[in-house]
Amino acid sequence: MTIRSRIAGLGGYLPETVRSNDDMAKIVETSDEWIVDRTGIRQRHFADEKTMTSDLAIHAAQNALKAAGLTGADIDVIVLGSVTPDRTFPATAAYVQAAIGMTGGCAFDLSAACSGFLYALKTADNMVRLGQAKNALVIGVETLSKITDFTDRNTCVLFGDGAGAAVLQAHEGEDGVIDTLIRSDGRHAPDLYATGGPSFNHEVGYITMNGREVFRHASVNMADISAEVLAKNGYTVDDVDWFVPHQANIRIMDAVAKRLGMPAEKVLTTVDKHANTSAASIPLALADGVERGLLKKGQLILSPAMGAGFTWGASLIRL
Ligand code: ACO
Repeated sequence: MTIRSRIAGLGGYLPETVRSNDDMAKIVETSDEWIVDRTGIRQRHFADEKTMTSDLAIHAAQNALKAAGLTGADIDVIVLGSVTPDRTFPATAAYVQAAIGMTGGCAFDLSAACSGFLYALKTADNMVRLGQAKNALVIGVETLSKITDFTDRNTCVLFGDGAGAAVLQAHEGEDGVIDTLIRSDGRHAPDLYATGGPSFNHEVGYITMNGREVFRHASVNMADISAEVLAKNGYTVDDVDWFVPHQANIRIMDAVAKRLGMPAEKVLTTVDKHANTSAASIPLALADGVERGLLKKGQLILSPAMGAGFTWGASLIRL
């Protein structure tokens, strides 16, 4: 029998402060109508000055552990995807490890922008499949507000802060993470990047992007890798119960669903209330779907993402 990672628990966390589109219109020249029409976003959550990425990650991790009926001491590995770490080093995962009372195993970060959760999921799932971990904590977390230029209306209305976490548990059975494909093409690094970095200019920098190029690639890459992961594993769009894509913006999600032939009623949407939370968006949407009673045990979930790098990927999960 094959060893797979079953999803033992999911947890999300959002900082308290909510900013509506009208609030954003007080900062830059924009409107609720423009933002809703172009992105589907109605509000976003922002962390305050003192709240760090690790704070959000710790809350989400604790919620996922509670849902799994486990404690930090049961976890063998933490893989955390983020482009907004607390500090340049150590890894944000180290703060999570200490906070949840996990004293063994290993904890590390990886950087794949909006595909961060899928990259982390693939890494942790591989460790579980190889018998290197029994229980793994996979986290996607961002405080994008800390690297947002609030004078740039092209970007500042798009993003939000949040965290999502999944506990993977080794088991022998058909449910769990069926397959995750990940890809990248570094030639597109100039299309979406932060203007700063420790080695580049000693600064953190701000998000900058070529919106149209991102839109074009996201629509194609997320659809095509979704089709690939389905075909590779002998499934079709009809077999999928819920399509939970990276919540970048509603027009990208619609374009991906259309290219893939995915019916709109199968698309789970949280971008309206969370905005684009990068690595956190898929686990936050999964946790939200479970909490709302939409996602149920035994259902087949398909989740693609695409982000800076460019990076992209898709995961097929039997809940
Ligand atoms: N409010 C009002 N007007 C705005 C705003 C705003 N917040 N932002 C830009 N505009 C203006 C532009 O300045 C431009 O004005 P101009 O014609 O006078 O120059 C006008 O709107 C149209 O700009 P376009 O670039 O043509 O707008 P477009 O229809 O392409 O939509 C958008 C822009 C929403 C950014 C789109 O390109 C997009 O969705 N791109 C994907 C970006 C994205 O989601 N990135 C997230 C990170 S990557 C990821 O998660 C996959």
